[in-house]
Amino acid sequence: MALWNGRDIQRIVILTGAGISAESGLKTFRDTGGLWENHDPMEIATPEAFARDPGLVYRFYNARRRQLDEVAPNAAHRALALLAERFAGSVFLVTQNVDDLHERGGSEQVCHMHGELNSMLCAKCTTRQPAASDYDGSTVCPACRLAGGLRPDIVWFGEIPYHMEQIGAELAACDLFIAIGTSGTVYPAAGFVREARFAGALTVEVNLEVSDTSGYFDVQRQGPASVEVPALVTSLLG
Ligand code: APR
Repeated sequence: MALWNGRDIQRIVILTGAGISAESGLKTFRDTGGLWENHDPMEIATPEAFARDPGLVYRFYNARRRQLDEVAPNAAHRALALLAERFAGSVFLVTQNVDDLHERGGSEQVCHMHGELNSMLCAKCTTRQPAASDYDGSTVCPACRLAGGLRPDIVWFGEIPYHMEQIGAELAACDLFIAIGTSGTVYPAAGFVREARFAGALTVEVNLEVSDTSGYFDVQRQGPASVEVPALVTSLLG
């Protein structure tokens, strides 16, 4: 337990978005030059898009997974791992990111609500399998040995994010909710701050700029995640 900003903090929920990985070199979705800028999300990140042009969708996610080899976690990822290790209460980390930078930054528990680039989903045997290299519709599933069923293990628009029950329980019980580097435009994650407030939690936002949900936060720390997150963690660890 920690006394922070006049509150007893025992349970922390942290939500991260593309902004925490920006300084590692991964593009965000909605900033200038962002990932969607040259693509209509509806042509890539929907089940309908995959049915219409699977080749485009495989290429997009294979390229993004390959890019993981060229980037490294930054000080913000590492600071969150340190917080989980040292904080006397509980720290639940939920990310909208499909990269593996939290894990490589030392976090042992990461809830990937939008799936993972390093994973693929087999429609034939309904298992999730590690995606070590490029794959497409002709790739044989390592579990069921059938081709034609593999797709990116990414939660697309119109699909239900993973682990919603567990996330809801964590939000309902938290004393402190921290959102880092997310524009607050995509639900259900954009609604987490209101769920946390409803539970009585103190809410903190770290972002380069004002986001769509900034008005719901008690505390706003404006600046780059690589600076603001380590400072916040130092303050929380007292
Ligand atoms: N430090 C802190 N915040 C930053 C930084 C930084 N260095 N760089 C950018 N940001 C902020 C931006 O100001 C913006 O508010 O990060 C946010 C990134 O927003 P988005 O690109 O919309 O990313 P995110 O909120 O994670 O998107 C949510 O949308 O397309 C879907 O599934 C995709 O998970 C993704 C979801």
